[in-house]
Amino acid sequence: MALWGGRFSTATDSELTAFSESVSFDKRLYKFDILGSKAHSAMLAAAGIIPFETAEKIDMELSEIEKRIDSGDFKFTSELEDIHMHIENALIEKLGNEGARVHTARSRNDQVALDIRLYLREEITQISAMIKDMQRALTGQADANDKVIMPGFTHLQHAQPVLFAHHMLAYVEMLQRDIERLGDCRKRINVMPLGSGALAGTTLPINREFVREKLGFDAITANSMDAVADRDFAIELLSALSIFAMHISRLSEDIILWCSQEYNFIELADAFCTGSSLMPQKKNPDIAELSRGKTARVYGSLMALLTLCKGLPLTYNRDLQEDKEQIFDAIDTVKKILRVYPPMIATLSLKAENMLKAASDPALMATDLAERLVELGVPFRNAHHRVGAFVKWCRDNNQALNKVSLAEMRISIPEATPDFLELFSPESSVAKREVPGGTGFKTVRASIDLWIKRLD
Ligand code: ARG
Repeated sequence: MALWGGRFSTATDSELTAFSESVSFDKRLYKFDILGSKAHSAMLAAAGIIPFETAEKIDMELSEIEKRIDSGDFKFTSELEDIHMHIENALIEKLGNEGARVHTARSRNDQVALDIRLYLREEITQISAMIKDMQRALTGQADANDKVIMPGFTHLQHAQPVLFAHHMLAYVEMLQRDIERLGDCRKRINVMPLGSGALAGTTLPINREFVREKLGFDAITANSMDAVADRDFAIELLSALSIFAMHISRLSEDIILWCSQEYNFIELADAFCTGSSLMPQKKNPDIAELSRGKTARVYGSLMALLTLCKGLPLTYNRDLQEDKEQIFDAIDTVKKILRVYPPMIATLSLKAENMLKAASDPALMATDLAERLVELGVPFRNAHHRVGAFVKWCRDNNQALNKVSLAEMRISIPEATPDFLELFSPESSVAKREVPGGTGFKTVRASIDLWIKRLD
């Protein structure tokens, strides 16, 4: 008979049992469930609702149950539905009536809300640390290759020369915001829902502050109906994880392109690539491709959770049990990515000469010419137009931009001075970009040093 079986006269249909169970996936919450039950029963005793000796026995037995689950010596069965009932049932099996006191002034509705919050709080700490490792790997590459020049792209077309380190640090910045988003989300997760009961609180004189303090929450939830009904905190976390995955997916796209024969900018270490079962020459960037692919799963989980909640009347509905697999899958997926990605980044090697060669096309310095004209007093729009005409003249006359004579340049750019012919080196183009946030050698070196310090 189920723990809720009092008002039922026949047994549950076996298909329903299989359909409604969640223990096959929510058992991973057991440590948090036990932690919550310990705090709850200590509070019940402190508030004079159950005897102290009972709370002590419950505490000890919960530790035993935890050890049994840790060691795999605990039987899970669909009949007991979820992890909450498994643990309560095991307690009652050992302690009889004393165990039957643990669920006083509590519902699985506020219990599960508590468990998820405790679980997510811990995951946020772990994932943030893992993202930091990823930032370290990217910063390490920037540090080791701080003078390497590559073409920067817009519209996937060569645009202007940039430092490879600048490109790496762009992702370090994005990941920093991802960490900040997780921290921000944690503030709203770290609020204690227990004491909300099924939806309406309880008639018993509980002390919610006691439980809050014991479990290290910042505050208690202010409305019992809100506390059992909403999963916005999980939706927020999944959206932060989706944004993180989007960043990784973009980095993956860069990596995949850079490895291709067309770019040939980098080489990944053998240990982080796989081959083809048919084509003997292949070496594929699977980690980047799979991470790009797994981003779809994380987005899917976010969409599932949003859709799950959109039509639910207040308060708790059993639909909410479907939240867990989405939450778990998104977290597992992100952690899987974060286990393989940093070492792949740390071990990739650059083909710096190919990068520089691609950045040495004089057309990439066309903007530098226009800006030099601005220095000579020409309004930028006119300068842009003249340099554009110059590029066109070179094309029409089948000439490289850096091979023309001053007289030829002056056909389109009458103000050109001899130094204009020297503006076509990617090194000096980069060196002149020492604006804050720019790709100048000194500016980027200072950012690398700052990040090394921050990530220490
Ligand atoms: N397994 C349920 C869930 O994950 C716990 C709450 C069940 N409450 C209920 N009244 N059936 O949401």
